[in-house]
Amino acid sequence: MPRKLSPEDQWWCIDEKTKKPLTFKGLKDICLDTTEICYIDAHNSKLYYMGYDIETLAAKSCFEETAFLLLYGRLPTAKELDAFKSRLKAERNIPDDLVELLRKLPDDVEPIEMLRTAVSYLGNLDPERSDLSREGIYSKAVRLMAKVPTIISYFYRIKNNLPIVKPNNELDHAANFLYMFHGKEAPKLWVESMDLSFILYAEHGMNASAFATVVVASTLSDYYSSIVGGIAAIRGVLHGYANVAAMMQFREIGSVDNVEKWFKENIESKRKRLIGFGHRVYRSYDPRARIFKRYAARFAEENEEIKRYYNIAIKLEDIALRSKLAEKGIYTNCDYWSCQVYRGMGFPVNYYTALFAMARIVGWTAHILEYTENNILIRPRLYYTGELDKEYIDIEKRSYREAEIKL
Ligand SMILES: CC(C)(COP(=O)(O)OP(=O)(O)OC[C@H]1O[C@@H](n2cnc3c(N)ncnc32)[C@H](O)[C@@H]1OP(=O)(O)O)[C@@H](O)C(=O)NCCC(=O)NCCS
Repeated sequence: MPRKLSPEDQWWCIDEKTKKPLTFKGLKDICLDTTEICYIDAHNSKLYYMGYDIETLAAKSCFEETAFLLLYGRLPTAKELDAFKSRLKAERNIPDDLVELLRKLPDDVEPIEMLRTAVSYLGNLDPERSDLSREGIYSKAVRLMAKVPTIISYFYRIKNNLPIVKPNNELDHAANFLYMFHGKEAPKLWVESMDLSFILYAEHGMNASAFATVVVASTLSDYYSSIVGGIAAIRGVLHGYANVAAMMQFREIGSVDNVEKWFKENIESKRKRLIGFGHRVYRSYDPRARIFKRYAARFAEENEEIKRYYNIAIKLEDIALRSKLAEKGIYTNCDYWSCQVYRGMGFPVNYYTALFAMARIVGWTAHILEYTENNILIRPRLYYTGELDKEYIDIEKRSYREAEIKL
C-alpha cells in the first residue's frame, strides 16, 4: 500500500510551534548571504551601490566608473579609470563566427533570446572559458561587457538589412553603443541617457537573475554558463521583460482619454497586472524610476511620440498611486519610465530587455565574485507531500483515463 509521510519524517522542515511545514516559496525576505555590493532601502526609496547613493552616481559618475566600483569594490583613480576604459575598448570586436551565427538566427527571435545564445557561443569560442580564478573572471567580465553592445548592435543591423558599423574607439561605452546601433553619432541627450541607463540597471541585489547566476556559479560551473543563467531569468515579464511589456501597455492604452477606462477594466477588475508597478523588495517609489522619469520628461519635450506615452504614464501613475495598489505598497518601478527613455533613444521596443541585460552583466559578475569567494553549493530542499512505495503496475494492466493527459 502506498504511504504518506508524517511531519516527523521530514522533521528538518517542520515549524516547532505550528507543526506545519516551513517552506519559503519565492524565497521572500530570505537572506542568501551577507553582501557589500548593494543595499535597497525599501521604505525610504533609496538604492546604494557599494555604499554610494544611486542619485549621486547618476549625477556624477559614468558607466565605466560605476562598473569599476561594483567589480573592484571602490571608486577608481583617474589612471585606473583610463586603463579600465582602454581594456573595454580593446575587447569590443566580436569573432566572425559569432557574426555568422547572428545572421543565421531567425528574424523574429527576441533580442534577449539572441543574447542568451550569443553569450553561450562566445563561451564556446573562449579558450579561457574554464578558468575560474578571480583574475580569469575579471578578464571574461570585461570581455563580455565590451562585446555585448557590439553583439546587440550587429544583430539589429543584420536583421534590418543595414551595414554593420564597427566600434569607434574614440567614443566611450554608451556613445559607442549608440553609434554602432544607429550608424551615426548620437545627440548629447541620448548619450547621457544611455550612460545613465547603464548605471541604473547595473545592479540590484539578489534579484531573480542575480540568483540564477549565483546558483550556477555555486556549482563551480564556468562564468559564461552563469551569465547565460542570468539572461534566461531576466527574459521573464515579472523581471526584465517588464520594460518591453510596460511600453506595450502604454501603446494598448493609446491615449490619455482612455487611461481611466483602461485602468477600471483591466487593473481594478484584476484582469491584468499593472506592468511597471510593484516590486518584491520596495515598499515605496523605486528611486531609479524617479531618475528615469526626469529623463522621460526631457524626451517628451522634444519628441511627440514620447510626449504621448509620457502623458498616458503620468495619468495612469496618478490613478494607480491613489488606488488600492498603493495601499498594498505597490508603487512605480524603474521599467515604467525606462521604456520611454529607451524609446526616446530610438530603440525598437523588443530590444529593451537586452539593453537591461547589457548593463546587468556588471552586477551579475559582482555577485558571482562575492558569493564564490566563500563558496557553498546552493541546494535547497522541498517538503515532500506525495505518496511513497507505490505499486508498479505493468503497462498492459494500467487503467488510467488517457484523455487526462493531452499528448
Ligand atoms: C514584480 C512583482 C512580480 C513582485 O511581486 P511579488 O512580490 O511576487 O508579489 P505578488 O506577486 O505575490 O503580489 C502580491 C499582491 O500584490 C498584487 N500585485 C503585485 N504587483 C501588482 C501589479 N503590478 N499590478 C497589480 N497587482 C499587483 C498581487 O496581485 C497580489 O495581490 P493579492 O495579495 O490580492 O493576491 C509584481 O509586483 C509584478 O508582477 N509586477 C508587474 C511586473 C513588473 O513590473 N515587473 C518588473 C519588476 S522590477
